[in-house]
Amino acid sequence: MTDFIATSNPGFAPYAMEELRRRFPGMKLSGLAPGETFKLNSGALSGRELIKLLRQDEPIFLRHLFPVDNEVQVSGDADAVAASMVRFADACADRLRGASVAVQVRKSQDSPFPFSSAEGRDALAPALRELGAEVTARDARWILSVYATRSSLYLGLSDPADNLSDWPGGAVRFRREEGLISRAAFKLLEAERTFGLPLDRFRRALDLGAAPGGWTSVLLDRGVQVTAVDPAELSPALEGRPGLRHLRMNAAELDLKPDSFDLLVCDMSWDPRHTCGIVEELAPALAPGGSAIVTLKLMYRKPLQTIADLTAEYGRFLEVRRVKQLFHNREEVTIWATRYR
Ligand SMILES: C[S@@+](CC[C@H](N)C(=O)[O-])C[C@H]1O[C@@H](n2cnc3c(N)ncnc32)[C@H](O)[C@@H]1O
Repeated sequence: MTDFIATSNPGFAPYAMEELRRRFPGMKLSGLAPGETFKLNSGALSGRELIKLLRQDEPIFLRHLFPVDNEVQVSGDADAVAASMVRFADACADRLRGASVAVQVRKSQDSPFPFSSAEGRDALAPALRELGAEVTARDARWILSVYATRSSLYLGLSDPADNLSDWPGGAVRFRREEGLISRAAFKLLEAERTFGLPLDRFRRALDLGAAPGGWTSVLLDRGVQVTAVDPAELSPALEGRPGLRHLRMNAAELDLKPDSFDLLVCDMSWDPRHTCGIVEELAPALAPGGSAIVTLKLMYRKPLQTIADLTAEYGRFLEVRRVKQLFHNREEVTIWATRYR
């Protein structure tokens, strides 16, 4: 029986909790930071068993979690709080010696925790180095997590893969590259990583609702040829890019040859049922085995029901592989599906 600190996108924790309750009836859940962070208990399952089940079939709205190995009282006293964190690191000495470790520190808004994330990490780093660990930000063997609430400090040491994301709280950050056309581009970059779907392995992509061209530009950068469909203008930055064709029209009016693309992406911010109808019409243009990555807007009152209905709809003509709310999704989720072979 293990406690975990779990995180979802702001406002979506109730849905993450509902998903968990449906899968694990009777699971004990309690809110920590409203709408975003909560505590869960693995109940009759061991922490390892729960992690295994969650990794096999990730809940849509659960972005991140870490196991709580230690819970102590928190205060605003910097020395006392630093001492608690160092005591925890000392207790993990066997695993940390000679290993790389990332320290991830977060707190709820009402916490008296006296450090910022960076200060919390700096307060722990000397003790970790003394134990023979290498403190790093990325690709670490271990993640040492600290989460502070109004009354408690939760501490845990885990394998990054077991946290569902190796970013603090699952907040994936991409470098804001020079000349980025739109923030929407981050959604496609995150989908690539989350679904384990390297974009450079595709050759011809259909981008529905492409303007101003963030997704198109990511695909072109990976050497994919793109047919971008949108009545709106693409960014001038895309003008003359080799491999790009812009069809200035409504996607509902497209007439495409069968099997002409191996990737279909769609980020039309529109009623998800209409979007599904358009993707269904165009699905034959996707070669068997080809992938579709589609943003589903959550514009109805019951997101879980909307997603269940849409998954069933998409399932009639595509094989739905994953549905996930990405960190860069706002009031939406992203679906990855493949054309039946
Ligand atoms: C959120 S933006 C897409 C952003 C884009 N993925 C990017 O990275 O820059 C949505 C776009 O969908 C387009 N759109 C909406 N309905 C459409 C339709 N039926 N056919 C084609 N484009 C459509 C809009 O014109 C708008 O440019």
